Amino acid sequence: MSKLCIRSARVLSPADGLDETGDILVEGGTIARIGGTVSCPGAREIDGRGLVAAPGLADMHVHLRDPGQTEKEDILTGCRAAAAGGVTSLLCMPNTSPALDGPEAVEYVRKKAESADARVFPAGAVTKGLRGREAADWRALKAAGAVALSDDGRPVADAAVMAAAMRAAPEIGLAVCAHCEELSLSAGGKLNEGAVSRELGVKGVPAAAEDCGTAREIALAAAYGVPVHICHVSTRNSVAMIRDAKRRGVLVTAETAPHYFALTERELLRRDADYRMSPPLRTEADRRAVVEGLRDGTIDAIATDHAPHTPREKAGFLTAPNGAVGMETSLAAGITYLVEPGYLTLPQLLEKMSAAPARILRIPAGTLRAGGNADLVLFDPRERWTVDPGKLHGKSRNAVFKGRELTGKVKLTVCRGRVVFRDL
Ligand code: DOR
Ligand code: ZN
Ligand code: ZN
Repeated sequence: MSKLCIRSARVLSPADGLDETGDILVEGGTIARIGGTVSCPGAREIDGRGLVAAPGLADMHVHLRDPGQTEKEDILTGCRAAAAGGVTSLLCMPNTSPALDGPEAVEYVRKKAESADARVFPAGAVTKGLRGREAADWRALKAAGAVALSDDGRPVADAAVMAAAMRAAPEIGLAVCAHCEELSLSAGGKLNEGAVSRELGVKGVPAAAEDCGTAREIALAAAYGVPVHICHVSTRNSVAMIRDAKRRGVLVTAETAPHYFALTERELLRRDADYRMSPPLRTEADRRAVVEGLRDGTIDAIATDHAPHTPREKAGFLTAPNGAVGMETSLAAGITYLVEPGYLTLPQLLEKMSAAPARILRIPAGTLRAGGNADLVLFDPRERWTVDPGKLHGKSRNAVFKGRELTGKVKLTVCRGRVVFRDL
């Protein structure tokens, strides 16, 4: 059995109440020993001094594009990108081609992911073909290995179908992840509706398009007393509604993505389609509200909405599809834009990137304990590096942090006890 010993790292696992300097011994796929000084004869040794060892990150919002759009990404390259970002578990969205709306498609993903560099947990579609009208067979999706339901990329157009999914999901053992967007308000919009869309003379997507969707999902969760998870929160009013709903005891959870806490619509002035995504980058007031939502616990989790598109597709500012890749920069973006300015502590950031998503999805991730899965990330919390899209491990290059200097560099990622990324 292969043995790996990480020596004298800051071992940090918020869910385990762990923050101490010590060793970690990995044997096979499990953590054999953790904390203190561990004797490990015959093990490959890694010097962890000055580095942080944490549970592998769990990214609860990823587009792997497989099946059907493998020129953008495939399951294996997407998981290589995950490994480079310290992500060892991810939820992949069902807007593939064909969609993950039946057991065969979910089984295809599970099977192909067996040899991948990260654990892949599929989300099945709420509706057939993600058309928003006709319910998919949710029990069959669960039986095939789905852990969540979502029509991400689009909202579930029919509120009654969404209500039925939200009511059935807890019984079946699935989470429901909602892409909140009122299509009648967002149709034809290319970026946030506001100063920048007016300056560029381009049709905008109003914040209200997202807020109407958020309001509907909260109303359904409140009416039926069932959970709902709100994807990629980007507006101040959505943050406020989620905060209020939580105070009232509604079972709502929420995620945001690094671009929403780090960037604003002003990035679009460069007319670079890599900064176009759905929902769009918003105003500085929205960005600040997202940060405050993370700070006060309104927003539970940070996920990337990793959405690869080819350079060719992204060449036209207004014709390009929405989305940006993010798994290789999310930890560094969190350290740079949340921890360094003092909005979150490093343990709080790690909790939102590992334990919180694991709890929401009920997947075995986000912990670091003896006898548990050997899924971990070792990173330098101080190293500064410049994001070079040419050096990304996924297939696509549409990275919004390109050219930026970030703090925090992943040095080693271990998934199922195997070293899947190394920069040491
Ligand atoms: O920016 C986005 N890209 N938002 C979505 O909702 C879908 C995603 C994609 O699939 O590219
Ligand atoms: Zn979405
Ligand atoms: Zn998405």
